[in-house]
Amino acid sequence: MTSAASAARTFDSPLLEGLTDHGVYAGVEAGPDWVAEVRRLAKARNATILAHNYELPAIQDVADFVGDSLALSRIAADVPTDTIVFCGVHFMAETAKILSPEKTVLIPDQRAGCSLADSITAVELAQWKAEHPGAVVVSYVNTTAEVKALTDICCTSSNAVEVVESIPEDTEILFLPDQFLGAHVKRVTGRQNMHIWAGECHVHAGINGDELAAQAKAHPEADLYVHPECGCATSALYLAGEGAVPDDRVKILSTGGMLDAARETGAREVLVATEVGMLHQLRRAAPGVDFRAVNDRASCKYMKMITPAALLRCLVEGRDEVFVDPAMAAAGRSAVTRMIEIGQPGGGE
Ligand code: 13P
Ligand code: SF4
Repeated sequence: MTSAASAARTFDSPLLEGLTDHGVYAGVEAGPDWVAEVRRLAKARNATILAHNYELPAIQDVADFVGDSLALSRIAADVPTDTIVFCGVHFMAETAKILSPEKTVLIPDQRAGCSLADSITAVELAQWKAEHPGAVVVSYVNTTAEVKALTDICCTSSNAVEVVESIPEDTEILFLPDQFLGAHVKRVTGRQNMHIWAGECHVHAGINGDELAAQAKAHPEADLYVHPECGCATSALYLAGEGAVPDDRVKILSTGGMLDAARETGAREVLVATEVGMLHQLRRAAPGVDFRAVNDRASCKYMKMITPAALLRCLVEGRDEVFVDPAMAAAGRSAVTRMIEIGQPGGGE
């Protein structure tokens, strides 16, 4: 047998026979055979599988590491394997490639985008910067590589406050693209010279204040965990301000921060305002607590494109490979490196 034929056999899998693609890869069951095939193929490719907290439970369970955006970026910068399989959305895999350009970075379905990352383009940012010469640009990691190349420091929801606090107080800041995260950071830091782009994530913006207030009323003993990208973050603080929910029960947290809080909570019930994939890790972290979604329709269709079929196809075919133009990657690297240096470890590290 030639070495090419033997490699083809190593990476082949009979489970892929039922693969279909009607906009999302399907046709493969996530049973024990699939788990064994995924692990065998990952080993054969010398690959580390990373999964975001919003992925389907089967994908989270088969991964080497599960975490929030910051933790996964830090892990991606450090893994010893030649290949990273990023079970998350495209900007996350791009960030891994920027941090580890010598590695092969694969995403199980390159169509997994992000409505928030799409809410600002590099041209729009260049224009905004021209209107504010001298301002420091802080971009959420949920941005394209082109936008990162025009950015001074990236952040995630777990270190956005620390990133803004690291910038001299008299320096203007352009914060993008998430308006709700921006409002949260402005509230916490009291920073006045911070301009905020009016972007949003369609999933989190859809978790509204009325739903949160109704749930808080129906579950008066529950803690509230609210992701800062949510449209209802302000309502959560309003409820606390009005005394409808005690102050110490309202926590605005990144997905990793929610897991840390879950491990320490004394509450029996927690209402969770973020993408529903988060419930899987929360229930694992604190099996005695009743975690409920504030909005059980808050599912990110992009995160859910990373199906069992997509992951198997990725490991068999070595696709979809993520490429970032080397000059663009070099331009964005210092912003991303500064991001992973700021803030506490946690969220899956
Ligand atoms: P974190 O994992 O950083 O909280 O991010 C949430 C998110 O929306 C990623 O798309
Ligand atoms: Fe983007 Fe929102 Fe999906 Fe996160 S949940 S990947 S911010 S669209």
